[in-house]
Amino acid sequence: MKPKLVIRPMAAEDIPAVAGMEKALFRSPWPEKSFEYEVASNPHGYQLVAEHDGEAVGYLVAWFVVDELQIATIGVKPEWQGRGIGTLLMIAAIKWALAKGASSITLEVRPSNERAIKLYEKLGFRVVGRRENYYKPDGEDALLMTNPNPDPKELERIWSQAAERFDLKVNT
Ligand SMILES: CC(C)(COP(=O)(O)OP(=O)(O)OC[C@H]1O[C@@H](n2cnc3c(N)ncnc32)[C@H](O)[C@@H]1OP(=O)(O)O)[C@@H](O)C(=O)NCCC(=O)NCCS
Repeated sequence: MKPKLVIRPMAAEDIPAVAGMEKALFRSPWPEKSFEYEVASNPHGYQLVAEHDGEAVGYLVAWFVVDELQIATIGVKPEWQGRGIGTLLMIAAIKWALAKGASSITLEVRPSNERAIKLYEKLGFRVVGRRENYYKPDGEDALLMTNPNPDPKELERIWSQAAERFDLKVNT
């Protein structure tokens, strides 16, 4: 039987679990308060969780400003990584942004984060710049990646491949 997965907007009740994942995944994690601000107050914010059997196993926070979606943070629980959840969260956010009229999608990533870079390249992102000494606490540079012209058909194809691994419900 395929595992159940729900992709839906993040709610206030998800924040402790999401902040817990963020802390486990990042060297300089967002504090719980930042997620609280995003969910409660950021008029430009968009947040998703992936939920399995009532447990948040992945999340994404993005900002939509003018005509650009910026992916602010994304994470998947280590035991759920490599199964398509990051792909589904990214495409769900991109589809939402395209429906709102976005013309490009951007993000920053550590050059050492090969797994994330592979995911973004698969979705059509390319490196367009480098911000030196960007990440705390170690001063690693950030690569600036953008997908200037997302291809809905290609995204749909990749979505279908990832989605068929799950008994998936999407409510975005
Ligand atoms: C980056 C991250 C969100 C990806 O989530 P995920 O659910 O593992 O991603 P997916 O399973 O959808 O995989 C997407 C692509 O990533 C790459 N990938 C996934 N697992 C991998 C692994 N074990 N080794 C190498 N590449 C891998 C592959 O290219 C994969 O595409 P494919 O399956 O078509 O080959 C997740 O690894 C994570 O939470 N990392 C820690 C936090 C982080 O670095 N966030 C990004 C900050 S910019």
